[in-house]
Amino acid sequence: MPRATFHFPPDFLWGTATAAHQVEGHNTNNDWWAWEQAGHTLAPSAAACNWWDLPTAVADLDRAADLGNNAHRLSLEWSRIEPEPSVFDEAALDQYRALLQAMHDRGLEPMVTLHHFTNPLWLVEKGDFQNSLVVDYFQRFTKKVVERLGDLIPKWVTFNEPVVYFYMRHLAKLFPAPTDGAGWVAGLRGLRHMLASHAAAYHTIKEKYPQAQVGVAKQLRPFEAWTNGRAPDRWWARQLGWGFNEAWMQAMQTGSLRWPIGRGHIPHLAGTFDFVGINYYTRNLVRFGQLPTAEWPAGTLLSDDNYGEIYPAGLYWAIHYATRFQKPIYITENGLPDHADKQRAAFLITHLHQIWRAISFNYPVMGYYHWSLVDNFEWERGWSQRFGLYELNPETQERTLRDSGRLYAEISRAYAITTPMIERYAIHLVPTLLPGR
Ligand code: BGC
Repeated sequence: MPRATFHFPPDFLWGTATAAHQVEGHNTNNDWWAWEQAGHTLAPSAAACNWWDLPTAVADLDRAADLGNNAHRLSLEWSRIEPEPSVFDEAALDQYRALLQAMHDRGLEPMVTLHHFTNPLWLVEKGDFQNSLVVDYFQRFTKKVVERLGDLIPKWVTFNEPVVYFYMRHLAKLFPAPTDGAGWVAGLRGLRHMLASHAAAYHTIKEKYPQAQVGVAKQLRPFEAWTNGRAPDRWWARQLGWGFNEAWMQAMQTGSLRWPIGRGHIPHLAGTFDFVGINYYTRNLVRFGQLPTAEWPAGTLLSDDNYGEIYPAGLYWAIHYATRFQKPIYITENGLPDHADKQRAAFLITHLHQIWRAISFNYPVMGYYHWSLVDNFEWERGWSQRFGLYELNPETQERTLRDSGRLYAEISRAYAITTPMIERYAIHLVPTLLPGR
């Protein structure tokens, strides 16, 4: 009987990903906190995972190290570091230094995100991404972080999911409302300012640390026609795919803007990424003229709460798309809500198997950051969806390793998915992953 083993390269990075507001707790000085207090989320972030208490955060890093991981992605909270314009909180910077040092001490290579969906309140008062001055503000913030923490940060993400961010604020209206009003026009203006802010941050980091690897965590998802039948559906799926996946990437690549982002050229933007960061969760099947709906064909495999289809082949598609940029690729997020931990083990195996496939074709996938280490605050969805390899009881702050977390530890220690792992954690996958047995 064949006992297949799917091997990963010896320098592969195995990690998990988190974001400041989702884990730190009591980020009272940003727009999300205000949005929560105004009742726009299913529940408030409150103490979250209590990461602003350093020993608690470090204990979670111990847990990441216990998983056999060698990397972790986290974000810095701008409103803690710069609570008022140009006023920097040195104690907050010291605390982040201690956290980053704790990662190094545990053999966890840091990947650090500068902006993950939250803005300081003072920036909101100035119109945040609607105001072209945001480029200078973001550069000032980045410069401070580079000066104080840069020696501890080999990998940087300037922005997390820029297109999702604008979709959720301006169109879906589920994220903090933009001060200048929602809608396409304002949203796309903000996106252009975000591209310019990214370029400014990229050069600020590289000036001091030319060896640093800097990129964006870009959510990529296939848009496909509902039932694949009708030509108008297929045409529409291509338009949405271009707008969601490609327009931002091609702007970063060339420095030139195209529909729908705008027209013209952003100086110093072309080529400002050293790797492609892919956040991959799901795909969308769409009908002509419609934005994605919470509706799927009968029989679709869905995660908790109809969050989305479980579709591992979409990760391969995303990697394949990213290879055109001829840069290293990191899977900067991938995961699912699964409170009862019924689907996560199979999800991990099938998605990592797609990465293995890509690596077998010499596609340069260098690392994987599972979303997430511990259950955390899920934005407008409050605490209703649980993405953690560790389960969290937000009341008691107690953590419990899920079975799927055990599996991830085994995979990351072995640098491989083995036949016994598949048999133990997801026996139903044997016929598809191990054909001929
Ligand atoms: C975001 C995370 C979020 C995750 C799961 C991603 O789009 O970057 O902040 O928690 O999705 O919903």
